Amino acid sequence: MSADAADRYLRPGTLQLGAPPPLSVYVHLPWCLKKCPYCDFNSHEFGGPRHGEALPERRYLDALRADLEASLPLVWGRTVHTVFIGGGTPSLFSPEGIERLLSDLRSLLPLAPGAEVTLEANPGTFERERFRAFRDAGVTRLSIGVQSFDDDRLRALGRVHDRAQALAAVEEAAASFATFNLDLMYALPGQTLAGLEQDFATALAFRPPHLSLYHLTLEPNTMFARRPPVLPDEDTSATMLDRLVELTAEAGLSRYEVSAYARPGHRCAHNLNYWQFGDYLGLGAGAHGKLSFPHRVLRTVKGREPARYMDEALAGRAASNEDEVTRQALPFEFMLNALRLREGFERALFTERTGLPPSAIAQGLAKARALGLVEDDEGPLVRPTTKGFDFLSDLQALFL
Ligand SMILES: C[S@@+](CC[C@H](N)C(=O)[O-])C[C@H]1O[C@@H](n2cnc3c(N)ncnc32)[C@H](O)[C@@H]1O
Ligand code: SF4
Repeated sequence: MSADAADRYLRPGTLQLGAPPPLSVYVHLPWCLKKCPYCDFNSHEFGGPRHGEALPERRYLDALRADLEASLPLVWGRTVHTVFIGGGTPSLFSPEGIERLLSDLRSLLPLAPGAEVTLEANPGTFERERFRAFRDAGVTRLSIGVQSFDDDRLRALGRVHDRAQALAAVEEAAASFATFNLDLMYALPGQTLAGLEQDFATALAFRPPHLSLYHLTLEPNTMFARRPPVLPDEDTSATMLDRLVELTAEAGLSRYEVSAYARPGHRCAHNLNYWQFGDYLGLGAGAHGKLSFPHRVLRTVKGREPARYMDEALAGRAASNEDEVTRQALPFEFMLNALRLREGFERALFTERTGLPPSAIAQGLAKARALGLVEDDEGPLVRPTTKGFDFLSDLQALFL
């Protein structure tokens, strides 16, 4: 580490962290064929080959490499445990591009043997034909944005794919990958309980190793926020979630986090590292990161706009905005993540990851116990009760 970086990151502070937590890398690929009306991710429409536009793939990969090189002082000597290539629609990148990205990563940072490497893919035909090649490029886990298998629901969501493409994509993923995830949403415009059950019967028939199930939310600054579709009421969507928990459990998938369901051995190591307040280096337009040092925890964010991000990164200025998480904010930030885990977390993890003494959460935990929101014992685990899990934001707010 250079003297300048050491001055910035290693100088004394009030936190006392031990060994740094496991390190993950998140890479953001920001383009999509078409912007979905509900989406507030940092994704940018790209007309695609039909409109004669080419993705600036090579330039973006050059920018990512420059971004990574500029970030090295933040992660000196650390091994990477998981990689997540998210978007946007990463499957718009060629398998050769993904291979180059992974080889750039490996050449600059040690990747743990058997590291999980996830790639997000959309179920279009053009993407599906590349699944096998993504695997051969080093991707170990595919995450497919199916959303629904119902053509009417997909149309209402403004998706570019249809049921037939979704079915073919999942079949191909199951044939090519030992582990994969399907993203599905519920409480969709015009969705009934019977419709949802049918959708899940289709999904579960593939015996997916992992599901991520999201309640459709109307995010500010999206088309749906401006012109909201008619959605199922709150009671119906709560019933839908109960039904999903039952159906997935019957199919052997356990709900290990608010939105994540897995068969044994198929939990997402990358997301688990987020929820256990591990570290991650964020690369790419708008990517967030979190990195620990002996006396501080930093949050980083890269420039959001792809063209500008590329210009800056290539000019050697990919340096992100960095903010130190305050001592006061750390307990809540930790709980915001760790309490999402159905099985909770080891009490000692709090001190390990925040560098704060256990007394920093003692009051919050006492209140949570009194309200029946966490298990009422002083054992090594802190675990939300069913009530705590159902009223998670109230539970988390006790640590504000
Ligand atoms: C980063 S997105 C991108 C994945 C991929 N581009 C796609 O859309 O298929 C990951 C997932 O977040 C979920 N998601 C996006 N916007 C949402 C919203 N407004 N409400 C609920 N879930 C949402 C979708 O299930 C989506 O697959
Ligand atoms: S494909 Fe995914 S990332 Fe792209 S706009 Fe739609 S929801 Fe957002």
